[in-house]
Order: sequence, then C-alpha cells, then structure tokens
Amino acid sequence: MSNWKRVLLIITGGIAAYKSLELIRDLQRRKIAVRCILTRAGAEFVTPMALAALSGDKVYQDIFSLTDESEMGHIELSRDADLIVVAPATANIIAKMRAGIADDLASTTLLATGKPVVIAPAMNVRMWEHAATQENIGVLKDRGISLIGPNEGDMACNEFGMGRMAEPSKIVEEITTFFSVRAGDTTPRLGARNGVLSGRRAVVTSGPTHEAVDPVRYLANHSSGRQGHAIAAALASLGAETILVAGPTQQPDPAGVTVKNVQSAVEMMAACQAELPADIVICAAAVADWRVANPPQEKIKKERGKNGNKTSAPPVLQLEENPDILASISTLKTERPALVVGFAAETNSVIEHAKSKRISKGCDWIVANDVSPGTGTFGGGHNTVHVIDGDGVEDWPVMSKEKIGFRLAERIAQYLETFS
Ligand code: C5P
Repeated sequence: MSNWKRVLLIITGGIAAYKSLELIRDLQRRKIAVRCILTRAGAEFVTPMALAALSGDKVYQDIFSLTDESEMGHIELSRDADLIVVAPATANIIAKMRAGIADDLASTTLLATGKPVVIAPAMNVRMWEHAATQENIGVLKDRGISLIGPNEGDMACNEFGMGRMAEPSKIVEEITTFFSVRAGDTTPRLGARNGVLSGRRAVVTSGPTHEAVDPVRYLANHSSGRQGHAIAAALASLGAETILVAGPTQQPDPAGVTVKNVQSAVEMMAACQAELPADIVICAAAVADWRVANPPQEKIKKERGKNGNKTSAPPVLQLEENPDILASISTLKTERPALVVGFAAETNSVIEHAKSKRISKGCDWIVANDVSPGTGTFGGGHNTVHVIDGDGVEDWPVMSKEKIGFRLAERIAQYLETFS
C-alpha cells in the first residue's frame, strides 16, 4: 500500500453517514487508502466497528484520548493524508470550519491542516438554504475548499429539495480526478483508462503572449495559462508524450510534460512547428492577434523640454498581424495532426462565433468559453465550456479547469480510438 494515495475521511452526524461505508470500499478498490475520523454525532449513524473493518485501520474519535493522541494526534492525522474529505458534512461542521472552532477531533484537525479539503454537504433543505449556511459555504469556497454536491432529492425527513449528499460514486470520481491532476503528481488517473493515450504525441499551447513594444514594454492579455496547463497535465497522465508550448505564466510546469517557454506569438509558432508532427494539437493559448511592427532596439523615451513640458506627441504604434498558429496547423497539407482543437474566448454570441471560428480556422473541435468581465474565467479556477465539433455542440457544466482538462483528454482518447 506504500504507493497508495491517502484520504482522511471525516464522518459527521447525518443520516448519509451510512454511505461512508460504500465510499470507503470504492476508494480502496481504486488504491486509495482511507483513515476515518468519526464525530460523536456521526457515531449515532454508523459504528466505528464497521468503519474499522472496511478501512482496515483504527477509527479516530476522541481528541482527549491518550492512546489516540499518542499514537496519531490531530496534526499527525492531517500530515499523513494527501486529501481530507468531509462526508457527510453537516451544517454544524461547515459552520465550525468557517468560524475556526476547534472543539473536537474533527474540527481541530480541519483547523490545523494545510492539506486540501473537500466537503460533501448533507442536510435538510431548509438548513442548506439558510442564509447562514449559504454564507458559510461561500466563505469556505473562497478559501479554496472544494464542494461535491449536495444534490436535490427526497430527504430522510420526508421533504424534497437540495441537501442530499452526493452519491459515493460521484465523490469517488472527484477524488480520483483530484489525485490525477494535482500539480507535481505523476500518478496516472486512478481508476481511469491509464495509458490510453500512450504512443500518441500531443502539443498544447497555453498562456498569453507578450509582444514587445520596445525592450522594456510589451502588449499582453489576462490569460493565466491555467486551462492550457491543466489540459497538458491531463493528456500526459493518460500516457501521451506531451509538449507544452507556454507563453509567460505563473503556472508550475505540469508533471510529466516537456515545457518549451516562449514570449511572443512568432516564437510560439516556431516552437510549435519544431514539435510537429504530432497526433494531437490543442491551441489553448490566448495568442495576441497583433504585434508591434519593427519594435525599436532602445526604450522609447518621453521627450521633455527644459521646463518639463512635453515636446513630442505620444508615439504611434504600428501593428502587424501575428501568424495564426491554429489555422496554419489545421490546414497543413502533409502530416496534419489527427486532431486539432482550438479555443474560442468570446464575450457575446459565444456558440455562434465559435462555430464559425471552427470553420474559418479549419480545426476539428472548438472549445468555446465566455470570458466576459464578471465570469471570472480569466485567472479563475473554474470554466464553463461548450465543445463544438462537426456533429454539434456539447454544453459542459461549470467545472474546475483541471476537471475540464481531464474530460477533454478522455474525449480525445475516445475520438482517437474510434477514428485513427
Ligand atoms: O482568432 P481567435 O484568437 O479568436 O482564435 C482563438 C483560437 O485560435 C485559440 O485556439 C488560439 O490559441 C488560436 N490562435 C492561434 N494563433 C493566433 C491567434 C489565435 O493559434 N495568432
């Protein structure tokens, strides 16, 4: 079990606690070890004996237990885990997490941990909809805590609405995705079709470009590179030999990916061409449409007279068009990649514009997203995309950029299996 990932599962007091048994079993099947913390209220719904039997480990319940704290204190429990999952997460533990209350082993561990935390809320619909819970959830999300569910449905209390815990299969899917796309994690996606892209070569562009105005200034855009980097990570984790041609970004180099750093569109084009032929090309970069024609070798000076008054008009920048990387690769006459995918960042008529972009660029698929101010797409962790191919439009729900990377990589693998 030494190479297994490790989840610390915190089970709090809701009727959905019985589902934790299925969750533990399914995670173990995917080579994810589970250690449990059970709250006092949680123990009213599921027994420590059953949890211990399934997890194959001691169940931790008491912060004031001398044996527990000497064997495995709350700090150790967190240190030993790759991910902390709270399922079910009651309104109470959510409120405690928000406020930083540490009055039992579960809440103390959550306050003391630096590890990523995922929660699967489960509660009555009115408790879920209460302003206090909604506010708490908002704060936790802002702090980077991930949410799975809740779902809408019949409740144990004979009501109907939002608040049912996500199904264990969904929680398992999110956890396996998390383990496969974390920066620095070279483990192929657990439970997925590992190696399904092995033998394939992929080139991905990502990030913005910087177009020199002079030696110290440049034209740029707001692209963070997070989506393109996540796609490269996902392709590599499915076994593709992946080359990421990256404009200037703050993103860490994804594991298992060869990164070629570039600044300008012209450099990006040259770097892509040098990596061809390839089976898959994904142009996720926000390439500048124009560059400054003949940027001077020296800094452009603001001329001032002796009295400080301006003596010259502001410089006029003459722009010229950049090469279109996506279009040129899509229309290669020889050794065209089997699949070329472009992105369309639009602020209005997203689908319409993306459909015509697919035709005009000659690529196979376009992934369209809305980047209007307020959507938080640029630089944010989430994205809402529509995948457009020759058959039509697939609307994907809002997802983390990492998850979109994965779904896209899986879709690519399926396509190549079928068509090449
Ligand atoms: O034309 P537009 O910039 O809207 O097209 C977006 C798509 O084209 C993206 O996939 C982007 O990476 C790609 N593109 C490119 N080279 C350019 C401009 C855009 O590869 N010069």
